[in-house]
Amino acid sequence: MRIGSLELKSNLFLSPLAGYTNLPFRLALRELGGLDLCTTDLVNARSLLEQNPKALKLIETTPADAPLAVQLFGSVPEEMRDAAVVLEARGLASVDINMGCPVRKVCRVGGGSAMMTELDRTAALVRGMVDAVKIPVTAKMRLGWDEENLSAPELARALEDVGVAAIFVHGRTREQGFGGRVNLAGIRAVVGAVKSVPVIGNGDITTPEAARLMLDETGCAGVSIGRGAFYNPWIFRHTREFLDTGTQPPEPLFSERLRVMTRHLDLMVEVFGEAHGCRMFRKVGPWYAKRFGPAAEFNKRIVLLSRRAEFEEILTAYLRWRAPFVDEHGELLARHRLAPMVASFMREEPAVARREAIPVPKGPVEVW
Ligand SMILES: Cc1cc2nc3c(=O)[nH]c(=O)nc-3n(C[C@H](O)[C@H](O)[C@H](O)COP(=O)(O)O)c2cc1C
Repeated sequence: MRIGSLELKSNLFLSPLAGYTNLPFRLALRELGGLDLCTTDLVNARSLLEQNPKALKLIETTPADAPLAVQLFGSVPEEMRDAAVVLEARGLASVDINMGCPVRKVCRVGGGSAMMTELDRTAALVRGMVDAVKIPVTAKMRLGWDEENLSAPELARALEDVGVAAIFVHGRTREQGFGGRVNLAGIRAVVGAVKSVPVIGNGDITTPEAARLMLDETGCAGVSIGRGAFYNPWIFRHTREFLDTGTQPPEPLFSERLRVMTRHLDLMVEVFGEAHGCRMFRKVGPWYAKRFGPAAEFNKRIVLLSRRAEFEEILTAYLRWRAPFVDEHGELLARHRLAPMVASFMREEPAVARREAIPVPKGPVEVW
């Protein structure tokens, strides 16, 4: 898989998820395999030029986190160009441009999805960036503003003409938000509209089979996974293996889920410090717990985490609470082997459950 001058080991990508795709999450995912190019949360180009500490934190990286793309948003051509130059000088692998964000704050200033409505202006802005740097410049878009304005194919063609190295397309319109299903025919139309630039399909990939379907149905060169990655951090490795061999490795054991969750927390603490790292982990822990089986006792306490040592206490208490539900390896007992009363506790998803759709996390992020 190539994106401009970048030679990649995988055609599976991590989609930017503001508030989630931080350095600790990316490192935890990379360690599990199957993934190569990751993208940061979106970063305001002007804030980056002003060296705003929050923007600098968003682009923090380490050698183990390569290759990394930074996603920029903004609508002032000079700022976008200069921010791309700054990123190149810092050694980033590529620059991605946000053209899909439906959030009012971003669109109001002409960034995000608003870029899809003004083709000439957008193409000129992108040309300025492409001409200013040697690293690849990519674009991430939705299918269009709404069903009546499916501008992605036309935009993709215009961007290819000004030298964009890849197009990432989420198969929904801005109006759709996260509703309905991802429109594979819409992604196929983007693939058909460009001459040779790779198109990466995105949206609702929660299983290796869904990735296969997206590739087969759309002819896209790769797939990008967002929410599926925090629901199942192993998704890249499993998908890689499925695409390469047609078979899937077994679901990770409970002990492996604990190991990776603990590693994720340790990376959070390392990168953000103990207090902030633990606070951020409050929304991460419950995602791992979705595959633990009965997890109410864990969730109740993890959302209050404030010190690293407390995590061990929570885990010890949870393992004790969970003991009646599991065998000697920590794996859930089959329901029929449990007394009916105990089985009623197991209403939560079993560890091997698969989901068709991943809910959009609650909170301000709902607007993506
Ligand atoms: C919490 C959250 C934050 C997001 N942040 C961004 C972002 O910063 N930039 C962006 O281009 N897309 C963002 N998106 C959209 C995703 O990158 C992706 O296009 C979308 O979630 C569909 O893919 P998925 O079904 O694999 O999650 C975000 C989505 C969610 C749910």
